[in-house]
Amino acid sequence: MHEIIRQLEEKREKARLGGGQKRIDSQHTKGKLTARERIELLLDDGSFEEWDMFKEHRCTDFGMASEKVPGDGVVIGYGTINGRLVFVFSQDFTVLGGSLSETHAEKICKVMDQAMKVGAPVIGLNDSGGARIQEGVASLGGYADVFQRNVMASGVVPQISLIMGPCAGGAVYSPAMTDFIFMVKDSSYMFVTGPEVVKTVTHEDVTAEELGGAMTHSSKSGVADLAFENDVEALMVIRRMMSFIPGSNREKPPMLPCIDPADRLDMSLDTLVPDNTNQPYDMKELIIKMVDDSDFFELQPDYAKNIIIGFGRMEGSPVGIVANQPLVLAGCLDIKSSIKAARFVRFCDAFNIPVVTLVDVPGFMPGTAQEYGGIIKHGAKLLYAYAECTVPKVTVITRKAYGGAYDVMSSKHLRGDVNLAWPTAEIAVMGPKGAVEIIFREEKNNPEKIAEREAEYKAKFANPFVAGARGFIDDVIMPHETRKRVCRSLAMLKDKELQNPWRKHGNIPL
Ligand code: COA
Repeated sequence: MHEIIRQLEEKREKARLGGGQKRIDSQHTKGKLTARERIELLLDDGSFEEWDMFKEHRCTDFGMASEKVPGDGVVIGYGTINGRLVFVFSQDFTVLGGSLSETHAEKICKVMDQAMKVGAPVIGLNDSGGARIQEGVASLGGYADVFQRNVMASGVVPQISLIMGPCAGGAVYSPAMTDFIFMVKDSSYMFVTGPEVVKTVTHEDVTAEELGGAMTHSSKSGVADLAFENDVEALMVIRRMMSFIPGSNREKPPMLPCIDPADRLDMSLDTLVPDNTNQPYDMKELIIKMVDDSDFFELQPDYAKNIIIGFGRMEGSPVGIVANQPLVLAGCLDIKSSIKAARFVRFCDAFNIPVVTLVDVPGFMPGTAQEYGGIIKHGAKLLYAYAECTVPKVTVITRKAYGGAYDVMSSKHLRGDVNLAWPTAEIAVMGPKGAVEIIFREEKNNPEKIAEREAEYKAKFANPFVAGARGFIDDVIMPHETRKRVCRSLAMLKDKELQNPWRKHGNIPL
């Protein structure tokens, strides 16, 4: 018996060493942790249950019969984050560059299948040189098996990707289909084709970091949701994010005890909106002052900054927050911001997280760049997302809600449950200046008359009461009582039930 135990320990020790000490050292020299060190930090102490530690590849070509490493370049299993179950796979770059073989893919599929059965999130820690070149099409098949599972799991269990090394070619498409992508600065990159191919085909000179580094994807392409300084920070932030999301679409998001009073008033909000309606202000101030303990988990903070998305809690219950940001492009909706918010609203809807929308939107962004880029289709994504969303929807209009953008931003007409407005709200087809220039075109050379008309339009439409008179706004509230009123609304909506008609799937404009 002793001998058997000794042999088992020996096997385990070998598997834990992955590609060997030299390659582990090289990983550390690059500022990266190993696959197992990452799992240790991600999960609660001692909670990790590893599967398939001894699984090996079956390839015999190109001398691979003698190149076997137990585990085959990926560590899989389950454990807990703050006591809640999650499944995890962590690619081991020390083993053949973390490349994906048929066997490696089978291991990833195993945790994904199990996560679906029990209803728990899948967190993927990616660090891989891509398809195992020696295996050829077998490894491509492996990727596709993972892709298929990503799609089947979408909207059923949360899927999170943390890119901590290379992720190139076909490998990018598994993370691309997950709910969130996080990246580590300087040590991770994602691209469909690398700098050498780019140089050959388009003659552009670009580094891997510029082409697909964490900053590129979190500020330029919008592929990544957040960029982190190092592995440790990334893993700690994922732990925090998991506290806002449920294990599956069958669960409600996790409640936390809350000591921040639901009826806490904040008088400073009464002066947040400047007297001059064209002057910007920071919508984040309202978010921070509204949510429990000022704890706001923002996603994509460096991309399409004219809209803010992220998680917060109200009376201990997670909510998704979508807010126009008047500080950037006056809070206009454009292609990027529409897509950013639409995907977030759909995530919240899929996972039973109520959506709180804060509105100050002067309309859609004009211009050829937007029109040629397809703002019609992309703007429609946000409209579609809000309209199909059945979770509780609470909207607060702080200032402008103009034109089609008013409709889009979780209006009553799109089944908004509670729609509130501050007294400073202006709910109208457009701003007074633009409106008067159109309706009273013949008076445009008479500034006195135009000013008079503008004042008339302002008095009539630049307020929340016209919408209120029609019931499009449920109440006009004082800014200082926003938290209280939103908390009450969400409490009332706690057991909301609403179902869309059966269909195979909708056809969201893509
Ligand atoms: N298949 C098989 N082995 C791979 C591999 C792959 N796709 N990618 C990397 N490896 C192996 C390397 O041969 C090397 O093995 P060794 O430690 O025994 O020498 C090890 O992984 C580390 O790779 P290395 O190139 O030394 O690391 P690096 O940090 O300098 O570069 C990459 C990383 C990913 C840029 C580089 O390995 C690469 O270009 N890989 C091929 C990418 C690719 O074309 N993939 C297939 C299409 S998706």
